[in-house]
Amino acid sequence: MRLRTVFCTGMDELSERTVGADPFEEVAAWYAEARAVHGDDADAMVVASADATGAPSARVVLLRGLDERGFCFFTSYDSRKGRELTENPRGAIVLHWPSLRRQVRATGAVERVSDAESDAYWQRRPVASRFSAWASRQSRPVDSRADLEAAAAAAEDRLAGTDVERPDFWGGFRLVPDTIELWLHRDDRLHDRVQYQRAGRTAPWTITRLQP
Ligand SMILES: Cc1cc2nc3c(=O)[nH]c(=O)nc-3n(C[C@H](O)[C@H](O)[C@H](O)COP(=O)(O)O)c2cc1C
Repeated sequence: MRLRTVFCTGMDELSERTVGADPFEEVAAWYAEARAVHGDDADAMVVASADATGAPSARVVLLRGLDERGFCFFTSYDSRKGRELTENPRGAIVLHWPSLRRQVRATGAVERVSDAESDAYWQRRPVASRFSAWASRQSRPVDSRADLEAAAAAAEDRLAGTDVERPDFWGGFRLVPDTIELWLHRDDRLHDRVQYQRAGRTAPWTITRLQP
């Protein structure tokens, strides 16, 4: 790992001169440290989308894939975010790891992951979560908690004893970044910000320090 870290002492440093050329490696190193400190909470990731008019919305999801292709999460394609990211396939993500005093931001194109990737993740979900996914029309109104539980029970009745296959309205999205920013808290609000930017997914990354 290239970044030298001294936790929470104010001595931690992030420099455009010492970070590696590949931002995914840097984010992966930070994520590994965040998992060690925050456990599952490290996976909480804000995803921002915008509708066709440009009106934004944001919510927390779980980071469920991080590699050289981008940042992956799973959801209902019929949810508000799913509809917005389909009609306007650009987004932004934010990861914040408070104990490490670090933030990662990225912007870019958003695409659906392959059916095989969605199926693989779906199969790892507990069966009760799979019934719930079938039952929930995510982001739509429901009259009561009782109605929601009745829908989940109906899904269980219908699907119990089957393979509980993935509904086609549920799957993964991947944000394919064209910018990635690493942010580190520093004393006196003189924070370190290093931004990676590229013109396309096969283009080289350029590295710039940004003012706090
Ligand atoms: C910690 C946390 C993790 C969440 N993870 C997910 C997730 O992985 N997928 C998801 O669809 N919703 C997740 N949610 C719920 C979303 O924040 C949101 O309520 C839901 O996806 C509906 O958003 P939308 O109406 O903007 O589409 C999570 C919420 C929290 C607080």
